[in-house]
Amino acid sequence: MQKQNPFIYGQEVSGDIFCNRAKEIKELLSDIRSGQNVIMYSPRRYGKTSLIKEVLRRAEREGIACIYVDLYPILKEEDFVYTYATAISRSLSGTVEKIISNLKGIFKSLRPKIIINPQGETEISVDLVKDMDVMIEDVAGSVKKYSEKYRKQVAIVFDEFQQIGIFSTDRIEKKLRSIVQTHGRKISYIFMGSKKHLIYDMFSNPSRPFYKIGRHLPLGKIPAEELTPFVIERFKTSGLKISKEMAGKIVDMAECHPYYVQHLGSSVWKLAKEEVNEQTIEKALTLTLAEEKSAYTNIWDELSLNQRKTLKMIAELKQEKKIYSVDSLQKFNLAATAVQKSIKSLIMKELIDKSNGSYEINDVFLNHWLMRI
Ligand SMILES: Nc1ncnc2c1ncn2[C@@H]1O[C@H](COP(=O)(O)OP(=O)(O)OP(=O)(O)O)[C@@H](O)[C@H]1O
Ligand SMILES: [Mg+2]
Repeated sequence: MQKQNPFIYGQEVSGDIFCNRAKEIKELLSDIRSGQNVIMYSPRRYGKTSLIKEVLRRAEREGIACIYVDLYPILKEEDFVYTYATAISRSLSGTVEKIISNLKGIFKSLRPKIIINPQGETEISVDLVKDMDVMIEDVAGSVKKYSEKYRKQVAIVFDEFQQIGIFSTDRIEKKLRSIVQTHGRKISYIFMGSKKHLIYDMFSNPSRPFYKIGRHLPLGKIPAEELTPFVIERFKTSGLKISKEMAGKIVDMAECHPYYVQHLGSSVWKLAKEEVNEQTIEKALTLTLAEEKSAYTNIWDELSLNQRKTLKMIAELKQEKKIYSVDSLQKFNLAATAVQKSIKSLIMKELIDKSNGSYEINDVFLNHWLMRI
């Protein structure tokens, strides 16, 4: 029988396909138990959603009520209330009738109802009312009532929280903050986001409502010492051999970025026979870059000449010191002010990020592609 590819990318991972994060899991569980609010952010695809779902699974086993709200699809303010209310209903257990009756006990103005979704399944929905403030107060306040009624610790996760910043007014932000503030130690809010500059501004700017609402947890990559044995184990479970050196090469080429480790691992696995060797890894990367070519060409086409030069410079040099050196500026035919301006735009476009005096191209494969053009 054909074995399954042991690597998965592009969706949340759990169980054997989830590597480590032991320290973060422990810390987040402890935060949840003590009602500590947390702001977790990282560049895209570092594994925030996978991590928090793992934490919630464990918290649930301890009897903590967990509410996971994905704000990614919201387009208007009502969507926030609707998504939050349905997430609360999903966290309740029991028959649909029981859930409806429980919701009626904790909502003041929102009216829960049963609907049949497009897939033909029964779901719980709510009838919205006109006044936005009333609705937010109702849905956000219901969690406290729930916690008091059932004497339960509650964990509420808002994934892609930066989405609430897209509206023209900040009334949701303000109202939610004033409610969250009153929730004490029985409820822990976890705000997560991938648009680092947006999330960071929301929680670190003294003029924004969510300033200093909780502990900051910037999620990093996974260390090579954790990822290398993970890659070896993944190949082993699917009957292929790989040396520590070759597994280390995959991790290194993917720059310890969990998504790209899984992506490259998956491409290597498809090509490998019996034992993984260096040529297979190189070939897998080349094929993957060929698949991504049109996406990368589109990105490249949309950049100005200075932005292109700066991006290429970052792919090669990384460190700020090297980038602004006289030699590099001469080699790329760029003025320091032009580099500065381009870097700002590239950060806004989320193509690059800066940490500890170094720039990084968020898409690891784009970095490889740039090195080859
Ligand atoms: N702990 C992990 N172990 C192994 N692979 C992981 C881990 N975390 C993330 N990944 C890989 O990264 C991918 C993205 O993970 P996930 O969706 O959890 O990240 P995210 O930070 O929530 O992404 P986004 O910014 O798109 O919301 C997964 O499909 C998986 O391939
Ligand atoms: Mg996510």
